[in-house]
Amino acid sequence: MQVDLLAGAGYAAPVLPLRIPTILVFDSGLGGLTVLREVMRQRPDADIVYAADDAAFPYGRLDEPALVARVLAVMERLVDRFHPDLVVIACNTASTLVLPALRARFAIPFVGTVPAVKPAAERTRSHLISVLATPGTVARDYTRDLIGHYAAGCEVVLVGASRLAGLAEAALKGEPVSDTDIAAEIAPCFVSRDGRRTDVVTLACTHYPLLLARLQRLASWPVEWIDPAPAIARRTSQLLGPAQLRTEPVATVAVFTDGSRLSGPAHIALAGFGLARIETEPLPLAI
Ligand code: DGL
Repeated sequence: MQVDLLAGAGYAAPVLPLRIPTILVFDSGLGGLTVLREVMRQRPDADIVYAADDAAFPYGRLDEPALVARVLAVMERLVDRFHPDLVVIACNTASTLVLPALRARFAIPFVGTVPAVKPAAERTRSHLISVLATPGTVARDYTRDLIGHYAAGCEVVLVGASRLAGLAEAALKGEPVSDTDIAAEIAPCFVSRDGRRTDVVTLACTHYPLLLARLQRLASWPVEWIDPAPAIARRTSQLLGPAQLRTEPVATVAVFTDGSRLSGPAHIALAGFGLARIETEPLPLAI
């Protein structure tokens, strides 16, 4: 059983040359920005490409063979165009399925994002934890293996939220999103059993930390919300080796496979994450 995609146990990442690195951070949409901000915080020396496969968003609804084929096709284009030194798959829905195929296809290191089950099991006191994710991620064998391996002593509730990633995107784009809709998506995370209650919820979709303040406010009771972004950024930095001294400004770009649904507020939000240059790499879902 292979259960440590994030740390890459059993995966020997290629050795990187000592120079200013280019990091490609990839997601289906804007959720990967929550990982990007940690990566940029920990590696201010790196040039950054943020890539969103918005033509295929949301990944949570794609079946597994379609998702593998899609991510490989998009990555082929992105690697060809940007020549990254390292790729962060800032998407649980893709990482829990596609990392082995990506690592087999490309000779660059890939850092994945997978449900933070181990930290959740270490932090819970009630032994009732919830994994809040897309329907795709909760259905993965990989997710079930993680739970069997790291959280065998806990009762783990898998919550496949079909609308929450879309609601997070809408909120970031400045569209109205009601508390009622968010509360309905997270309600199944809160479980009471024999006087015990869920005390840890792991955010297993990179979109969800975009809504963290509202999740905290709309929670049935206070819980610890785990965001894996700092751990992913640490692993990224470790693979890149020591930070390089640079004199020229950092180059950043955001690239979208569609881009047509980006509103003014979305551009402002992207600029807030340090991404003022926005480009497209058109790749309709049908191909
Ligand atoms: N941000 C992605 C994740 O971490 C999922 C959103 C989607 O369904 O595309 O799983």
